[in-house]
Amino acid sequence: MPIVGVESTSAGSANIPPNKSINGVSRVTIEDVSLPEFSKDAILQMPELNLSDKEKESKIREWMKSIFLTDEDVELIRKAFLEEIERGLEKTPEQKSSLQMENTFLPELPDGTDEFGNAVTEKDGVYLALDLGGTNFRVILLRMRKGEIIAQKVDYFHVPEAVRLGSGEQLFDFLAACIEEFVVAEKVSQEILPLGFCFSFPMHHAGLNIGILASWTKSFNCSGVIGKDVVKMLNTALHKKNIHVDVIAVLNDTTGTLVAGAQKDHDCAIGLIMGTGCNACYLEKVSRIGKWEGPHYDENEVVVDIEWGAFGDNGCIEFLKTKFDKEVDKQSLLAGTFTFEKYISGKYIGEIVRHVMIDLAEEGPFFGNHASERLLQFGSFTAKHVSTIEGETLSGGTDKIREVMSEMDLIYDKDDLRALQYICAVVSLRAAQLVAICVGYLLTRMNKPTATIAVDGSLYKNHPRLKGLMDHYTAVYAPGCKFQYMLALDGSGKGAGMVAAIAKRLTEKRTKSESDPN
Ligand code: GLC
Repeated sequence: MPIVGVESTSAGSANIPPNKSINGVSRVTIEDVSLPEFSKDAILQMPELNLSDKEKESKIREWMKSIFLTDEDVELIRKAFLEEIERGLEKTPEQKSSLQMENTFLPELPDGTDEFGNAVTEKDGVYLALDLGGTNFRVILLRMRKGEIIAQKVDYFHVPEAVRLGSGEQLFDFLAACIEEFVVAEKVSQEILPLGFCFSFPMHHAGLNIGILASWTKSFNCSGVIGKDVVKMLNTALHKKNIHVDVIAVLNDTTGTLVAGAQKDHDCAIGLIMGTGCNACYLEKVSRIGKWEGPHYDENEVVVDIEWGAFGDNGCIEFLKTKFDKEVDKQSLLAGTFTFEKYISGKYIGEIVRHVMIDLAEEGPFFGNHASERLLQFGSFTAKHVSTIEGETLSGGTDKIREVMSEMDLIYDKDDLRALQYICAVVSLRAAQLVAICVGYLLTRMNKPTATIAVDGSLYKNHPRLKGLMDHYTAVYAPGCKFQYMLALDGSGKGAGMVAAIAKRLTEKRTKSESDPN
């Protein structure tokens, strides 16, 4: 069982474990990249195509046209997004929305006070947090004081493909085994600790600690979980091992990121993930949630998980889909679903570029007219390659692009290098614009004096141009709105602990006010 523990008294990259192998199992490598700063002008500048072979140049311009968004496209996407949001919030919409618009039942964000406006004075609390969404599962022990994390211990476990694609029971048994190792090693197995479970998949919430899986995404497809409460499944697996914890909250990574961000900046109103997947949550007025189920506790706003990865699964933005996007979808694990995510996220952005390259090699006079076996291989060109190439474009170098070409076994000349730079820039630009259209609409909808967007995810962190592009286009699409993007490192893990603390407080307060209504 791979176990890595890192003790830290502060949040952030101090928790990133060094490379090591324990019990013969390879340790997970987590890269923390600090990107060089580039000027806004440089970021907004598309790389010059200017090929020596003008026929090649016009060919590639023609091919890439379909990926560029026109002003009309932008308008149509924005309109579709707002209509889908409205439908998603309705109780009985005439037409089903592709946006789940899930009520998370989280009515408050950390602001140093409790939900009654009193200063938080709780004693130190110890919480467990779980984070499942990618190929690494994390177990975290957090010590919190006044809603802030003052110390944490993190263990990373690699989730093998056989588990990600096996049965649900196997998956939860695996998670329970990781948790068992962790609580025993941390000598907390005898305590019943409150636990926040960050489960980064679409869920239906019927309360803070009930999460019914709606569908799998990304690289998971375990049988027998859709339609089931993942908290129950986790509890069953934990009971089998005689492990006692109190799962008091289940949340999505966007919610975790929003909550963790709000701890630092009380203007946080949107949580955004741009990693393997792409999704956002935001603060919605309770009065606008027609489909609200269950009791109200005088909440004004609540966190809504949009699940925008699935935007367009009902065909409402079909005009966006190029032949390359269709190929990406066809070869993906869950074809026909998570349409919007496939235009943007780290799992697919390299795939889009790869499909353009294949077509250029097979049909055009690019890459020596030969698509290498490596290029034809699914997943061989990744988001990391896109970020590397974009970095070279900004810094004016070509060495790393040549390395990528060699790694892909491609024959290339100078024109091919430029072509690849251009493709990566166009695909990245579209991803940034799509996110900016949606964020821009949310800013307009919330209409707050100022709003901070807490962001996490490997693509956002490692891509040298995305942040600048998103800043620029969000301002274009939400004129007059004051906003800023803020990196909320490790939002999901920290947020899970914080939500557990909030959930505990809410439960205590509600129990108290129910037994003593005065
Ligand atoms: C996928 C999941 C969503 C998650 C996102 C980012 O889109 O459906 O729940 O927030 O990935 O991890």
